[in-house]
Parts: sequence; structure tokens; C-alpha cells
Amino acid sequence: MFIPFFFILLYNRDRVGISAFIAPCDFFFPDANAGSGRSDAADWIRTAYHDMATHNVNDGTGGLDASIRFAEEQSRPENIGDGFINNTINVLGANRYVSIADTIALAAVMAFENCGGPEISYRGGRVDADGPNTPGVPEPQDSLDSHIAAFARQGFTQTEMISLVACGHSFGGVQHSLFPDVVPDLNDTTNRLSVQHFDSTFVTFDNKVASEYIAGTTGNPLVVGLNDTKNSDKRIFGSDGNATMLSFANSPELFASTCASLIARMVDTVPRGVELTEIITPLPFKPANLQLILDGDNMVFTGDFRVWNTTDTSLVVMMLYDDHAGATHNTTLAPRRLGTSFAINARYGAAWYGLDSFTFDGVAGIKNMRFSVNGKLEDQDGIGFAVQDSVLFSQSSCLFSPHPVSARIDIAVRNGVNPSRIYLEHATTDSTGRPTVIETDIAPPTQPIAANSAYSIWSHNLTDNLFYTIGAEINGAKISTWANNAGIFHSCPT
Ligand code: HEM
Repeated sequence: MFIPFFFILLYNRDRVGISAFIAPCDFFFPDANAGSGRSDAADWIRTAYHDMATHNVNDGTGGLDASIRFAEEQSRPENIGDGFINNTINVLGANRYVSIADTIALAAVMAFENCGGPEISYRGGRVDADGPNTPGVPEPQDSLDSHIAAFARQGFTQTEMISLVACGHSFGGVQHSLFPDVVPDLNDTTNRLSVQHFDSTFVTFDNKVASEYIAGTTGNPLVVGLNDTKNSDKRIFGSDGNATMLSFANSPELFASTCASLIARMVDTVPRGVELTEIITPLPFKPANLQLILDGDNMVFTGDFRVWNTTDTSLVVMMLYDDHAGATHNTTLAPRRLGTSFAINARYGAAWYGLDSFTFDGVAGIKNMRFSVNGKLEDQDGIGFAVQDSVLFSQSSCLFSPHPVSARIDIAVRNGVNPSRIYLEHATTDSTGRPTVIETDIAPPTQPIAANSAYSIWSHNLTDNLFYTIGAEINGAKISTWANNAGIFHSCPT
């Protein structure tokens, strides 16, 4: 079952995106009531590892490339369990701008960071595989030598193997239903799915996986499990005479910093040839979900604005914007809500402000915006935030009939812009589930149709669906509107 992104928004209205599934950290979809014994945070971390673990440093194949989404890979014994589908990949919300592999990496990083773990560097740019990778995920019954060899093939030394397994196994546990020879039926109403956890804090990152192991009090089912052949953590943790685990037990800080570096390396292990971006950090002030519509002589602007690292919803946030005539205007944004993660897990704070249908002179238009937060200018060191008003949805678009779809989309093109192409973009997925965009060219009008003194209209009849964004090529560069306009078609006059 594919769960579309809008479902996530509705599922937990005050928590959006990936965050909705780690707030709180014992949240487990679809069994959202506390006490399931499982958590999405743990499944995201395991998913990232299993996806990466096919990597071969020698030939450059495999790595974190979302090949785990293929049924063939999921059906292998090394990928036992249902944690790679409905509560992970299908809810992550990849889109034309973010690959599935990037969302897998991001979800794992967020699970660590929001559930007590260290800050982990995040890069983008992963490319989704077009088929399953060669098998390569270690299994608990494998020998120590085979584990050392598997981690070496993935690019990690023996000490790094011990560390990475400890980092991952700070979360979650082993399920009775999958490993009845390792975990008995726990018969516990506070752990309904009978998951024997790796440490006593299975939804929180801390060094208990090491301190309980060293103290001899661990309940880790891969150390003290019923079937010693499958006690892989016991063999791995003890493989250097417990030196690494002892150092982690003695120093939560060392454990945290080691995991920060190894988890970053784990999610950055990608097939040869894939180039990742520089480390991405949150913008201190970020516009999002912007929609600009031409309505006759007016422009209608709706958008959200995030102020990072605050929980203050009483800031005075103003948008300053420049029009095409060189004049600067301003308007005050309304507070909306607090960001997801802070509200629940108290890690990162963000406050959202916004504009709803802010109307201004559509002929003068808008070229650039910047913000003032309690009087302090936020303009990206003078660059500001460019706004494209060259090609946009016109409110004159209208719907003849919803079923079957019959509508006319009117695209407003700013005079003097001279696009070489205008097209509709339909965001969809290819046969392997990768996000892709189908472009449909629109013919220029035979006679110019003025929307106002600054814009002309290109029209196109829609007969399949309304879910389009508008794209254009202008001076060799591609631009695109952000939101699809399906919800805002008026009925056509009869
Ligand atoms: C030799 C290497 C490894 C072996 C043999 C191994 C084995 C296992 C097994 C048998 C489970 C139980 C799965 C289930 O019952 O759902 C498990 C769970 C888990 N593993 Fe590993 N693992 C290894 C390495 C790693 C690494 C390197 C990470 C991440 C850095 C990781 C993260 C996890 C997580 C988070 C869970 C909990 C999943 C949940 O609770 O739903 N594992 N592992």
C-alpha cells in the first residue's frame, strides 16, 4: 500500500512530514497506541543500514540507493520482517526534489537526532537504484569472520563494526514473531508485539546498550538470546576483548561522537559515481509552500515562513518585497504554529509564520523578498530570496466538469519574458517507484490575450486530471511553480 504524503499531513495535524512518525519516539505506524514494543524510529535506522549493507567498496556497487524498496530484496532472508515497507519507505514522502534514498537517509538521521542522539551531518544527492542490489546484509547466525568480512566489504573496520552495531542497536530489538528461537513470547501487554529490546531504553539513544552489556545486566536478545548460534552481538561486541564496548560504557560522550561520525558515513555510503552535496544545514529563516497566483490586476500570495531554533510565536515577522518598478513594500506575517520536533521531543525548535491570500498589485509584481524578525534583517547576506513571477497560474482558469475532468488552465506569462517553452508538469513515479515528472508542452496562443497590462494568457484544455504545476524554459533555465493548482479551479461561467 502506498500512503501519499497528504495522508501524513492529515494523520497528525500538528506534526508534519517525517517528524510525525517520531513524535513521540515510541510512535509505531499503524499500531499507534503506546506499548506496541516497536517504533518507526528503530525501523528507519534498520532500513538505512539494510539498504546500505549491499555496498561493495571494491567494485563500487550497492549502497544507500533505496534498492531495499524492491520486493525481491525484501523477500530475502537477510531482510526478514515488515519494517521496510508500510511504516518506512511508503510514508517518507520522496518527491521530484528529494530521492527515496535521500529520504531514507534523512529519516535515519532524524530518528537519531530527535530521539536523544547526537547531531549527524546530512548530505543530499543520493540516486535511486533501478533494480535490486546483490545480497549482502549480515545475519545473526553468520560467523564472526563473515561479519568482519561483510563490514570490510561495506567499508568499515572491525572496531567500526562493533561501534556501528552498538549505535544501531541502541534502538529497537528482536521480534518474537520473526525469531521465535531467539525471543520467547513475552506475554506482556506493555510490549504487545513481543519485541525483546537491545537495551532498557529502546526508543532513546544513549550508551545503555554498552553499559548494560559491560555490567552483565543486558537483556540484548543477540547477546543473551535463547539460541547461542544467533548471538551475533555477543560475538561482535566481544571480538576485541570488549575494549570498544568498555570505552562506550565509560563515556556516553565518546559513544555519541562515534555514532555521529559512523551513522553519517553509513548514510553517505553510496554507489560509485553518485556525488553527494555539501553538508546541508537548516536555513535560519526559510520560506516554504509558496503559491503566487495572478487574479486580474492583482497578485495573490500564500506562503509559510519558518524561523529556526526558536519556540517564540510572538516574534514580529515582516516580509519586505521589491516590485519590478523598484519600489519596496512590506507586510506582517501571522504566527501559525510551532515546529514538530520541538513540541514533542525538545530537540530542535522552529516557529512558523505565514501569509494567506495576501493581495498586492499584480502589474508591479514581485522580484525579491527578505524578512525582518523583531527588527533584524534576514536576507541571506544581501541575496534575499528571489521570487519568480514570470510564469504563474491565472485565477481565470476554470473547471467545466470534475468527472470526467474537463477544465481550462490559464497560464499568465509576464510580457517581455519570452519563454522558449511553456509546459505542464505532472509529478508521478516511474515503473520502479522513482519520482519523475512528465512534461506536456503548451502551444503559444495564436492571438495575444491580455490578462492585464503586464501579463498575457496561454490556455490549455485539461481532460485527464488537474494535478499540474507549470514549467517554463527562459534563457536556457528551467523554472517551475511550486504547488499544483488542483484545488483552486473555479467553475467555468455557464
Ligand atoms: C552483524 C550485523 C547485524 C546483525 C546480525 C543484526 C541483526 C538484527 C536482528 C536479527 C534484528 C531483529 C529484527 C526484527 O526482529 O525485526 C535487528 C534489529 C535492528 N537492527 Fe540490526 N543487525 C546488525 C547490524 C545493525 C546495524 C549496523 C544497524 C544500524 C546502524 C542495525 C540496526 C538495527 C535496528 C535499529 C534494529 C531494530 C529494529 C526494530 O526494532 O524494529 N543493525 N538487527
